[in-house]
Amino acid sequence: MCGIIGYVGRKEQRDILLGGLRRLEYRGYDSAGIAVQRNGSLVMTKVKGKIRDLEKAASSLDLTGSVGIAHTRWATHGEPNDINAHPHTCCGNRIALVHNGIIENYQSLRTLLKERDHHFTSDTDTEVLVHLVEEHLKDSYGHSLEEAVRLALNEVEGTYGIAVIDAEQPGVLVAARRGSPLLLGIGSDEYFVGSDVAAFAEYTREIVYLNDDEMAVLSPDGYLVKNLQAEEMNPDVEKITWELGQIEKGGFDHFMLKEIREQPQTVLDALRGRVRPDTGQVKLGGLQDHQDLLKNAKRIIFTSCGTSWHASLIGRRLIEEFVRLPAEVEYASEFRYSTPVFTPGTVLIAVSQSGETADTLAALHLAKEEGIPCLGVVNVVGSSIARETDTGVYLHAGPEIGVASTKAFTSQVTVLSQISLLMAQLRGTLTEERQKEIAGELVRLPGKIQQILDDTDCIEKIADQFAGADNALYLGRGYSFPVALEGALKLKEISYIHAEGYPAAEMKHGPIALIDDDMPAVILAPGDHVYEKVVSNIEEIRARRGRVLAVATEGNEAMADLADWVIYVPETLDCFYPLLTVIPLQLLAYYVAVRRGCNIDQPRNLAKSVTVE
Ligand code: AGP
Repeated sequence: MCGIIGYVGRKEQRDILLGGLRRLEYRGYDSAGIAVQRNGSLVMTKVKGKIRDLEKAASSLDLTGSVGIAHTRWATHGEPNDINAHPHTCCGNRIALVHNGIIENYQSLRTLLKERDHHFTSDTDTEVLVHLVEEHLKDSYGHSLEEAVRLALNEVEGTYGIAVIDAEQPGVLVAARRGSPLLLGIGSDEYFVGSDVAAFAEYTREIVYLNDDEMAVLSPDGYLVKNLQAEEMNPDVEKITWELGQIEKGGFDHFMLKEIREQPQTVLDALRGRVRPDTGQVKLGGLQDHQDLLKNAKRIIFTSCGTSWHASLIGRRLIEEFVRLPAEVEYASEFRYSTPVFTPGTVLIAVSQSGETADTLAALHLAKEEGIPCLGVVNVVGSSIARETDTGVYLHAGPEIGVASTKAFTSQVTVLSQISLLMAQLRGTLTEERQKEIAGELVRLPGKIQQILDDTDCIEKIADQFAGADNALYLGRGYSFPVALEGALKLKEISYIHAEGYPAAEMKHGPIALIDDDMPAVILAPGDHVYEKVVSNIEEIRARRGRVLAVATEGNEAMADLADWVIYVPETLDCFYPLLTVIPLQLLAYYVAVRRGCNIDQPRNLAKSVTVE
């Protein structure tokens, strides 16, 4: 979704605001804008396009000023163009406002404000906010910007992260959030607001997370946090733990390739200090005080979206295999509007890289309203899902900038494996031998992933063959079915080739009609307990002159005779093949998209964390 940055301080606003937008661009990149307050007026420009287009448009502007805000957009209401870009200003051009989220009652507010002679210029939902603030700023009320924003927000339904400045109140920035991420950066006599810590991480490591229905007033004298009843809050100031280099490309052409190649390390980081291969024991800090909950759970419901949903499908299998508990996986967007039956002993696990996905957050709220214990498996520290679940486990994968999720997926599966192993340990559902075998193999996986990444030439060659395809079919059985879905999603997301993931056996019930020599089929065929069945599926495709790329286990020479192309991965346990077989599929999608000249890190129409429904 959109990215917001704001700054109060003496440094040059241009570098801070435009630099911050560049770091937030993965959140939305169809239009952008900037506004600075100076000498009783606003200096502002906004354009359709990327941050580089905004930099060009702003190059002739004097952006020195006491306070400034900027925005990069992912359009929800009103197509991407110069008018609908943010900031939006009020009739008198006194106030400028940037917004991330959706104002649900904007139509009725717009009608009301029009009756009070407010003139609207854009098609956005956001614009009603700035006119509403203007309405409360009318002289007759004598309200401050802070008060006017608070009163305006009390009339709004929907989600928002906003930053507002006023031409007549130098050095003052008012920010607020409900449902969309927003946090403060605390510097030495300078203050930042941002949708993501990456926006200002190079200037301060001290941050304050705003909670829903909280607002902040930043000025050179300091910052205040209040709720929408104007009561003062005293939030903790927390420290960022990761290094700035982690949000740089580090010499790679794209963040996605960097993050794919980080996986031996990120899987290791997801295991660090948590698994004892010698004893098979697992210890997860966040779950230490919740062992009874894990011991007495009778049913697990996973809820998530996109790639996290695919990881959750693997989580379900791990829970059923290791813990012998019924487990379900719910699309959060469907679950939130369903009427689920929460039986006693149900535990909900929300899986999310960003921790800000609106549908997953809403599904979590639904379960919490019913008093269901909720765990989080999240990457972004301090994100909404992390703070609103009862407890959980962090991935420790570091910032994931590429819109197409890669390292978060393998870290999610690694953490879900550990949660399943811990529950088995607490409930005695695995023999000590089996527990040691599984834990022993887990810690060997980073090395095996590195093995795959050490030789990717064959994947590049195969990508040459795939780059011209219009469609592709991904097939897998058991633990490999979710990997087929994930592989297809990666190809779709960044190369725009239409691809479908399917349970391999389901093919006979329809998709096999699509098979011809133009439809490449990618088949997960590791040496697991369903291997022979997958071989039959390959033969069914071959019988219809379909072309097959198989991902198989090292040493399986026979596969070279069966498939047109084979990518080998090291041997492992059935349950851990997803952590190996997904790597070649991530790389295949990447190299195909590069050959098609696609924008890898910012694929069209997508955004990194979907904070609106
Ligand atoms: C995956 O590559 C996509 N970026 C998308 O499907 C993503 O997985 C989904 O939006 C869920 O995001 P989350 O894990 O941050 O909740």
